[in-house]
Amino acid sequence: MGLRGAGIERGRPLRFFFDGTPIDAFAGESVASALLAAGVRSLRASPRAGAPRATFCWMGICQECTVVADGVRRPACRTEVRDGMIVLTGTVP
Ligand code: FES
Repeated sequence: MGLRGAGIERGRPLRFFFDGTPIDAFAGESVASALLAAGVRSLRASPRAGAPRATFCWMGICQECTVVADGVRRPACRTEVRDGMIVLTGTVP
């Protein structure tokens, strides 16, 4: 069951894509939590140093988790995952 514990009630299983890689998730999860559970640790690169960036505040404030979900830049921690969603590594100008 990986990082998802037994005994926890989940939404229906679904699949989305992160930079072309299929990611299994459950309805109701955020993109950020589904990616973390799948072992993804970097959601974008910092604009100057190119350093890997990921979640920090988990509440939509810091923008560290910005990704491009179905063509729109969004914080992954505040975006609910959808079946077939196309998520790309984010960019922050
Ligand atoms: S982790 Fe801060 S906005 Fe998503």
